[in-house]
Amino acid sequence: MKYFIDTANLDQIKEAYDLGILDGVTTNPSLMAKEGIKGEEAVYNHYKTICEIVENGDVSAEVTAVDFKGIVEQGKKLAAIHKNIVVKVPMIPEGVKAIKWFTDNGIRTNCTLIFSAGQAMIAAKAGAAYVSPFIGRIDDSGWDGIELIQQIANIFAIQGIKTEILAASIRNSLHIIKCAESGANVCTCPLDSILGLTKHPLTDIGLAKFMEDAKKFE
Ligand code: G3P
Repeated sequence: MKYFIDTANLDQIKEAYDLGILDGVTTNPSLMAKEGIKGEEAVYNHYKTICEIVENGDVSAEVTAVDFKGIVEQGKKLAAIHKNIVVKVPMIPEGVKAIKWFTDNGIRTNCTLIFSAGQAMIAAKAGAAYVSPFIGRIDDSGWDGIELIQQIANIFAIQGIKTEILAASIRNSLHIIKCAESGANVCTCPLDSILGLTKHPLTDIGLAKFMEDAKKFE
């Protein structure tokens, strides 16, 4: 499974990249707004900087248009920023049409706001490189986000679909483990959830004891 970070914050992206385990970045309009970035030029420069930090990793940049023409226009501009930009398109009929257009024109897409297997199937059929089921938001609404990952992974395996399942809206480290168990190809996570994977109280206790004993033979 690949590890993406779900943020537009450059310090957090650098921290995850420096860990040596980062495969890519996903952003969305809410995450960009959180960084206080305003205006087309600033947004494009920000995406370029992110691409340079992660070198060979894919970077999802989301369109804000909701009509076919607008999505295609924005997507073309975003894709021109850097070879690793993946155009993130919402799961709506106009978005599906645009994903098909991007597929036919050699531009990779990530279909976002996926909450059902049917949505994932249609995005894959249109040629999306990634589909992004929102695990945490499904859990928040009283359903089981991990079950959706399992269902999509099962369908894609049976049907031989190559679209990658990019589990999004991750709330904690356990989500990441469950996504790996469930057949997600990628998990995009907040930095804290990634760092949480490195932690265990018995590791801390064990290390303290090793450090104490190490003093005995220094
Ligand atoms: O990037 C999309 C997704 O990860 C959003 O997560 O926490 O806003 O539900 P969240």
